[in-house]
Amino acid sequence: MSPLPRSLGLLLQSPTAPARRLARTLTGAPSPLAGRTVLVTGASSGIGEATARAAAARGARVLLVARRAEELERLRGEIEEAGGSAAAYPCDLTDGESVDALVASVLAEHGAVDHLVNNAGRSIRRSLHLSYDRFHDVERTIAVNYLGPVRLTMGLLPAMREQGSGHVVNVVTWGVQMKAPKFGAYIASKTALDTWSRIAGRETWGDGVTFTNMRFALVRTPMVAPTEAYADQRALTPEQAAAKVVRAMEDRPLTVDTLPGRVGEVLNLVAPRLSDYLFHLLDRAQPDSAAARSGAASLRSGSDPAPGS
Ligand SMILES: NC(=O)c1ccc[n+]([C@@H]2O[C@H](COP(=O)([O-])OP(=O)(O)OC[C@H]3O[C@@H](n4cnc5c(N)ncnc54)[C@H](OP(=O)(O)O)[C@@H]3O)[C@@H](O)[C@H]2O)c1
Repeated sequence: MSPLPRSLGLLLQSPTAPARRLARTLTGAPSPLAGRTVLVTGASSGIGEATARAAAARGARVLLVARRAEELERLRGEIEEAGGSAAAYPCDLTDGESVDALVASVLAEHGAVDHLVNNAGRSIRRSLHLSYDRFHDVERTIAVNYLGPVRLTMGLLPAMREQGSGHVVNVVTWGVQMKAPKFGAYIASKTALDTWSRIAGRETWGDGVTFTNMRFALVRTPMVAPTEAYADQRALTPEQAAAKVVRAMEDRPLTVDTLPGRVGEVLNLVAPRLSDYLFHLLDRAQPDSAAARSGAASLRSGSDPAPGS
């Protein structure tokens, strides 16, 4: 397709998405994901696992990435048993050489990826005054939430641009808009990915490659399980979150936001001092968890003893 019609198509992508969705429902046409290659990072658990299942159920060939090979194999088997198509690629996204090897294998075995879901991540909720001797909190979050996904995206982008279409979904957080206290390391790393992708999308526009930043609120996954303060809070299930990721892959919006996230963003813009004051009060009202104060050993999935979202 020549650049002008493609650009117009992308301009109208979000406004026309509901009409295309309605037409699919009326005609029984398959999801646009059918027959597509979808790579999901963090597919061994939570939102990523549910997203992989949901994409496979729509006919996508899903490529499963995370560190725990046995969990990926379990999921691959379950997807194939249900009639879907999946392949497992164990990889530690904080290891640059492993990411490069992953890119090489995926391109050799599947060609260009149609949708990349940068979902793997690590969350840390810890006050600044408890973090002065924990610079590794900053390093760990930036490694998996920013450097890994950017390296993977840069590896897969040339083939997407070459084929004239592609889509990258980043699972970030409403904290990008809120800028909630205690989440400095985590939110800064997610904001870096959010911003990098927005800029990359402006450069790849003419090649039909788009980016979506998903600013989720709380989702009930293993990542947030150790934080008692979240036990009673409203949260999406991983399946509800996955349905939103699938919808984003089908409709390709720029962002997927929550109402509170949008309100927080506007407040930060029009009344930044008031916003600081309100968040300061919130910070005082919600102390660090016992685990965050003690700095206990890290948990299994890369989430911190004081996780959150
Ligand atoms: N849960 C929430 O409330 C919430 C809200 C907003 C945003 N998010 C974001 O949603 C994403 C998914 O989190 P979740 O809630 O579904 O948590 P989860 O169940 O703990 O899943 C985290 C996933 O990331 C993978 N992972 C962690 N470190 C990795 C590494 N170095 N290399 C490769 N994979 C790695 C883990 O797999 P392995 O351990 O097998 O490597 C796991 O599959 C994260 O980016 C998180 O920040 C979550």
